[in-house]
Order: sequence, then structure tokens, then C-alpha cells
Amino acid sequence: MTQPRVSLANLPTPLEKAERLTAAWRGPKIWIKRDDLTGFGLSGNKVRKLEFHLAAALESGTDTVVTCGAVQSNHCRATALAAARVGLRTVLFLRSPDGEPPMEATGNHFLQLLAGAQCRFVTPAEYDERNAIMERAAADIGTAWVIPEGASDPLGALGFVSAMHEITPQLDEHGINRPIIWHASSSAGTTTGMVRGAQEIGLDIEIIGSSVGDPADEVTDHIRALLTESDSLYGRRGGDVEWRIIDDYIGRGYGLTTPEELATQVEATRLTGLLFDPAYTGKLIHGLKQEIDQGRFTTEDDVIFWHTGGGFAALAHPELLEQENTDERTQNTEKRNQRRI
Ligand SMILES: Cc1ncc(COP(=O)(O)O)c(C=O)c1O
Repeated sequence: MTQPRVSLANLPTPLEKAERLTAAWRGPKIWIKRDDLTGFGLSGNKVRKLEFHLAAALESGTDTVVTCGAVQSNHCRATALAAARVGLRTVLFLRSPDGEPPMEATGNHFLQLLAGAQCRFVTPAEYDERNAIMERAAADIGTAWVIPEGASDPLGALGFVSAMHEITPQLDEHGINRPIIWHASSSAGTTTGMVRGAQEIGLDIEIIGSSVGDPADEVTDHIRALLTESDSLYGRRGGDVEWRIIDDYIGRGYGLTTPEELATQVEATRLTGLLFDPAYTGKLIHGLKQEIDQGRFTTEDDVIFWHTGGGFAALAHPELLEQENTDERTQNTEKRNQRRI
């Protein structure tokens, strides 16, 4: 079945060798798949998924999309910007600690508002009922296209099925055999698409998703369910692929940071010139460094760090710049964690 798709992302994104990072960390060859360059203000992996969701929304004849996430959600920011491009209105249900707007609109929330999204705030308890809340809102609006959290359903996952088709010739071009794909995993759509795409192509690859908040078995169950749903919608294709979810680098939890994570993130920015998102790729790069320090890889291994974007979230973490003074950074990290979800 061919799904409609609207062209939003700048594709193919480059696959680049991180020369200075590889040399400094003395581990495997580190490659970066630059999905931070897909467009829409560093919206990263979300743009790939939205190409399918926004095409379906337009086909349905609606003028509004409804979706949800945390106040600093990259997905909500990406949806608001991409929907503006194709002329759709966006309603966002944003989870905040007290169901109220934050005192100050910073980072992604600022960008959601800048893109013209209508933001409605819900408590964490209400957020547990997010699908019902979004369906009710869609019914009130009349016709609206509901995009699940993270655009992570079989439709959104198609964005990463096609990403695997995209990376296959790039692997050949760089002479990379049996790479390890190291990526941040949360609402499961990215990993699901990667696994399904690799199955379809028959890629010899190891896919490792590092959870940014939920226990590994929960994320794994979610991916298995999405794979099964995808098989029943689009048909089972291809053989088995080695994949797993780990939860060793969650740190203090979703959206919270530690001074150690921030320090690695700053170091990686200074070795690559790239921006990392403290909630996702920041944890991911810290996890990679830990694995290298533990001797998990050989210098012959090729690790592909899939940069899933979201760098603007760094702007909501001023404690990154307090990094030269460890005491100050530790105190300010604590204070800011208390205000975050
Ligand atoms: C920057 C970034 N990387 C990775 C992810 C994880 O992707 P997924 O939710 O599809 O697992 C997200 C979104 O949740 C994200 O915003």
C-alpha cells in the first residue's frame, strides 16, 4: 500500500564522520546521521513522520491538526511549524506540572507559539487520558486530524522506514559494514520505523535505542505492538533484525538533566560544532561516551549516532553555560530540574 506523503524534509540528510569526536573519545568510528538538518528549526526525526501525517490530514480535507506532548516537546514544535507550511492550524495539548502555562515561554514552547499554535495545558493526570482528550477536541472542532504523541503510530513510523532506504546507499558509499545505529527512543515510532525498514531491506545492522525516560521493557513492548500493527496494516516484510532498547542513560528521568550529562553535551558540541537537546540527543551522546569508556566497542566498529534534532531545547537550559563552574552548574541544575516536568 502506498501512503500519501507531503515533501517537507530536506532529504537525504548527510551521513558524516565525526572525526574529532572519534579521535578524542578513542573508541569506535563515530558517524552522525544529520537528521538535525531535516528543516523546520532543527525539528529532526519528527519531520520524517509528519510527511505522512500531514499528507493524510490534507487528504482528509481538514484544516486543523491536534497533537500533544510536554511543554518543551520537539514533536509539538515540529508539528506547529510544518503545519504552518502546508496551511493547517495546530492545536496542542501540553503537559505541565500543574496544568498551567509556564511563567515564561522559552525554547520549544516559544517556537510553538511563534508558529501560531493554539496551546492548551493539561496536568500529568489529564495527560494520561490524552487520546480521549484529543478525540473530544477534534469532535468539537468538527474535523481535525489527530496525531498521536510523537506521531508514533504505523503511519508516522513510515518516515523511518524510508529513512532506512535512504541510509542504505550512504553506508555503501562510506564502506560501512554492519553498523550499530545508536539513537534516542521515547514514543517508539522512530525505532519501529528503523526496524521495519531494515527488515524490508535485509540490512545487516544492530539497532540500539536508548530510552530517555521510560523503562526499557515498556518501550520494547510499545515497539513490538507497533510492529505488529504495521504488519497487519501494510503486510509483513523481510527477515529478522537485531534490535534492543536500553535504559541505562535515563539519568534523573525524562526532561531532567545531570551535571555529568550537560558536561558531555558541551564537550560534544565543542568537538562537532553540533547542538544537542538535553532531553534526547544530550542523554544519547552521554550514553555513547559511557559505553566507550566501558570498552563496549572496538576501534573497528562503526557507530552511527542518529542525530534526531531538537537542538533549540539547549536554549531552555542556561545551566549548560555554567559548565565551567561545576558547583554553580550542580546547584542550578537542581533548581531547574525542580521546575521541570
Ligand atoms: C530530539 C528527539 N530525538 C528522539 C526522539 C525519540 O523519538 P520517538 O519518540 O519516535 O521514539 C524524540 C521524540 O520523542 C525527539 O524529540
